Amino acid sequence: VQPFKILLSGSRRIAAGDFDHRIILRSHDELAELADAQNTMTSLFVEIKNNLDEKVRERTQEVVRSEQLASVGFLAAGVAHEINNPLASIAWSAESLESRLHELLHQEDRSQEIDPDELKILSRYLKKIQEEAFRCKGITERLLDFSRLGETQRKQQVNIYDSVNDVVELVRHLGQYRSHSIRFEGDQELEAWVSPTEFKQVVLNLLTNSLDACEADQEVHLRLSCDRTYFQLIIEDQGCGVTEEVMQHLFEPFFTRRRDGRGTGLGLSITYRIVQDHSGTLVPESPGPGQGSRFTLTMPLNRYSQEMNYEKRQAA
Ligand SMILES: Nc1ncnc2c1ncn2[C@@H]1O[C@H](COP(=O)(O)OP(=O)(O)OP(=O)(O)O)[C@@H](O)[C@H]1O
Ligand SMILES: [Mg+2]
Repeated sequence: VQPFKILLSGSRRIAAGDFDHRIILRSHDELAELADAQNTMTSLFVEIKNNLDEKVRERTQEVVRSEQLASVGFLAAGVAHEINNPLASIAWSAESLESRLHELLHQEDRSQEIDPDELKILSRYLKKIQEEAFRCKGITERLLDFSRLGETQRKQQVNIYDSVNDVVELVRHLGQYRSHSIRFEGDQELEAWVSPTEFKQVVLNLLTNSLDACEADQEVHLRLSCDRTYFQLIIEDQGCGVTEEVMQHLFEPFFTRRRDGRGTGLGLSITYRIVQDHSGTLVPESPGPGQGSRFTLTMPLNRYSQEMNYEKRQAA
């Protein structure tokens, strides 16, 4: 009876998941043979299971890598396209300038003053070259920000009110927004688990978008609040609003309808990626053109709920 009991309880232990367990019987009979067979089967099973685990790990890595490569390709195609237009403009303006200069320098009558109209044209081309070159610079700078995401500063416990306030104060003193009015209110003690630089980048992108959509006499309003597990930052403006068409493409890289024509269209796609990396959400709303817009940013307060959220998303 004793060997039979050992065999039974051992089998149960293995069945319950203890694959390191081996059944030892010293009876030298058929039961012992059965125990040996069981042990061999368990070892074989463990080996197969380990192989499968390894395969799953490899496949997952492959999928992640190919997704990363695909997004790099997507971005690279976009960059090439976006930088091509301003570069063509630069090349074309420089060419025109050169031939104008050539004509001026080889004029028959050198003593004559240069025609003021001619000077105007020259300066227009020069201006165009500068503008377009700066546009290219803006795009490449933003892309560098994009590629540095995740490797900047690690997540840590950050006072969210102070972070938002730093950005608001910084923007307030930027020349182009000096006459705009920005109002910010919220819980001054609020802390959360975020990457400090990335979080500021999010606030900066959302705030400058709102300011760009506003005339100088219109206000941008930021409100910070929290409940038990999440904090929320609402950025609301009375600006030009978002049309249905713009709403659909808002988060796409290189999509821009900025009114001054100086956008790279990368702000919101960078923002989106950071928010996702913090297991948060960003919801845009607008009653329509001319009626302002509101962006609601929601992020988990602590590390634990971020990780829970991440796992839930992975499982979905
Ligand atoms: N608060 C807002 N009100 C109205 N339109 C907005 C607002 N925020 C974003 N948009 C629209 O979404 C577009 C994309 O925004 P995004 O920040 O990605 O790029 P951008 O602001 O054009 O360029 P950059 O970020 O380089 O300044 C903007 O061009 C604008 O048309
Ligand atoms: Mg922007």
